[in-house]
Amino acid sequence: MLRPVLVVETTRRKKRRDLRKKLARQFYEAFTQEGFVTVSGHVISKETWDQQMDFCNATMTMDPKANVPFESRRRGTNRASTWVSRRLEDSVFTKNLKIDFYNMLYQDSKADRKHPPHLVPYLDEIRKVMLHVRDDTQKKLFILLAMCLEMPADELIATHAPGQSSSECCRYMSYAPLTPEATAKARGLFMPAHADWGAFSILFSPPVSALQILHKSGVFKWVEYKPYTLIVNFGQALELLTGGLFLATIHRVVTPPKDQVDYLRVGIYCFSRPDDDFALALFHDSPILKRLGKDKPLDPNVTYSTAEILEAKKHGYLKSDLDFDKPKDNNFHDDPFRQGDRFAATQKVLASITKAFA
Ligand SMILES: [Fe+2]
Repeated sequence: MLRPVLVVETTRRKKRRDLRKKLARQFYEAFTQEGFVTVSGHVISKETWDQQMDFCNATMTMDPKANVPFESRRRGTNRASTWVSRRLEDSVFTKNLKIDFYNMLYQDSKADRKHPPHLVPYLDEIRKVMLHVRDDTQKKLFILLAMCLEMPADELIATHAPGQSSSECCRYMSYAPLTPEATAKARGLFMPAHADWGAFSILFSPPVSALQILHKSGVFKWVEYKPYTLIVNFGQALELLTGGLFLATIHRVVTPPKDQVDYLRVGIYCFSRPDDDFALALFHDSPILKRLGKDKPLDPNVTYSTAEILEAKKHGYLKSDLDFDKPKDNNFHDDPFRQGDRFAATQKVLASITKAFA
């Protein structure tokens, strides 16, 4: 069980500098040793938190027919490009898995977006929480990362300029219980092991346990549920920018423990992503990367922009099978996560992620 905790909030101005140094150390140790952090002190009240989870629950339990007007087109569309719901239970992506999500973009290109009726009266409140996660919690994470890299915080924060990412979003998501047959077909995996491709992924800690993280010891470990805390994963964009000093969090969603196996697992996820046209090259100005010899690009052959790496990920880039503890029989098991990979040969960056576990 993993439980690194980072308390990001402080009002003690006199001690702020010392506290930030301490937090930066915790940040470094948590992400390099445990692979993620649990954040408290985020200043989202319990009342607001519960209300947001109610919105999420209500959206994820909508009647499938009522959901239809908010679904995206199934194919040929960037699912993250709209404020949209998309049921996935009959898609190629998930086959027998019942996964659903509802994206809420920070920068929606469609001004008159229609939303489920139960959300409409509360859109301002939802937006306020989204912006808090982005402009407060995430900003503090960037400040700590900047301290670790010995770089100006403004330089890191500037990579996430408001309005410059077309995919930055918060997402309601649900995983429905599976039949024993579907569980066996999926190797007990709702979502196979992977790394998110953005900067930070910030998750409202869900009461149904299913999240596991690949620990540096090479073992997948459960993430402890701590009520009213945020779970933060490190994304591949930041791994590229930090030359692999920080490795992206390899995580997966598995069948919940027996006493929760029949529950719908819902959660709120906020994905921070650099500007669409931002080149994910190394932070050359970081003295610490130079001193530690982490000043070489992980993939010398290609530098993707944020928008490009999203497209590459959608087609299989960096999607190797990392669930080594759940052997796959190609004649029996489904693996829709990697179906249609066109970048299977492009594994150089992934190699940098996995070498720590070799
Ligand atoms: Fe993920």
